[in-house]
Amino acid sequence: NSTMQQQVNVYRASLLDFPAPTSNPSSDFRYIQDGLLVTRNSKIVDIGSYNNLISSYKSHTISDLRGKLIIPGLIDSHLHFPQTEMLASYGEQLLEWLNNYTFPTEAKFADDDYATKIASIFLHQLVSNGTTTGMVFSTVHKSAADALFNAASKLNMCLIAGKVCMDRHCPVELQDSPALAQQHSAELIESWHGKGRLAYALTPRFAPTSSEQQLAALGELAKQYPDVYIQTHLSENLNEIEWVRQLFPKHRSYLDVYDQYGLVRKGSVFGHCLHLQDEEWRRLKSAQATIAFCPSSNLFLGSGLFELEKARQHGINVSLASDVGAGTSFNMLRTMGDAYKVCQLKHNPLCPLEGLYMMTQGAACNLGLEHTIGNLNTGTDADFVVLDPAFNELSALRTQHLIEERTISAPQDVLFALSMLADERTIFQTYIAGNCVHQVNKELN
Ligand code: GUN
Ligand code: FE
Repeated sequence: NSTMQQQVNVYRASLLDFPAPTSNPSSDFRYIQDGLLVTRNSKIVDIGSYNNLISSYKSHTISDLRGKLIIPGLIDSHLHFPQTEMLASYGEQLLEWLNNYTFPTEAKFADDDYATKIASIFLHQLVSNGTTTGMVFSTVHKSAADALFNAASKLNMCLIAGKVCMDRHCPVELQDSPALAQQHSAELIESWHGKGRLAYALTPRFAPTSSEQQLAALGELAKQYPDVYIQTHLSENLNEIEWVRQLFPKHRSYLDVYDQYGLVRKGSVFGHCLHLQDEEWRRLKSAQATIAFCPSSNLFLGSGLFELEKARQHGINVSLASDVGAGTSFNMLRTMGDAYKVCQLKHNPLCPLEGLYMMTQGAACNLGLEHTIGNLNTGTDADFVVLDPAFNELSALRTQHLIEERTISAPQDVLFALSMLADERTIFQTYIAGNCVHQVNKELN
């Protein structure tokens, strides 16, 4: 189409990703030390080494990002948009933390203007930390979910979100009902699911705050809309698990509560999964459901240590997640650093490439989105992040011997150092659908 402006951009940097799904990320990565990444409009159209590709792009201006590392846009598989402002709330474990901090904060989102304001701050936090896709819990209020989807659509962002459903064991002003949860969720699906790059996730908060009737109503919706996602919490805290046992005495396990209502399937993402029984591991596998591992949150709330090794043994796919605001950082590199520490306590060191996989290609696969996000393949959406290993004095000192002739010679080591040292300055630029939506120390519109 000759009337359409073709915007071609060429970036020169070190490039790191996983071009295909794999169970062995520590060997199946692609690393191009001196690479070119080419985008046209919203898509990646070429990737390769500088030497091989430069003749094709001689007439183009090249963004010289040598010394920096381009990775796919990061995917945060579980976090709470209304909890942005209550991150780092002191002193409690899960159930007290919900009552004392979370519910009062989420009640503020009855006000549409407030929800709109926080949605904008939330998305800014994501992109300034290199996160280009999130699987997000909103509040119980339908209009707060609308505000979030609206803000994400303006950024052309691939965002999955859902209105929280809860009809008991929380303040009355935060309760919907089986019928309202079903109606409002259905309306949000009709408004947003598949609109641009947005998708909907049915979002019962967790078993204790939903009646059996509400879970049944959501199960009906799940059946009616087989391609919507499902997200909730599972087996996070020992008191929570005991409470679920008392509330649902007829069910064999915590997972079985969700399963009885048709909420355990491909595209279901369960946050935490710290204290599962064997039959729950097996059921997650047979249903092709996946787990969001939230290390920062699990440490912060004192919930427990995720058994990544056990998930591997059962062949269950795991992605990484911040779980903000129980997680204490929006930064997925730092979240990977916390995952490493959790795995160290289990005496199973986590390879940095596996960490990267769980927040790029692996997370995309869990959502069935590997043909559009999570890697730097030609034809995918141009969501990517430019990392600056020399972003501060300490990181520059730590990584200087890993950078040779302005290219990165040991990407795993750089990545690992950044998982411990990163802050917002590490994220030099963030691109969504080909547009630079964030540059460090610079206001972009
Ligand atoms: N379980 C139920 N609700 C929540 C929540 O908001 N955060 C966490 N971490 N766990 C939950
Ligand atoms: Fe959570």
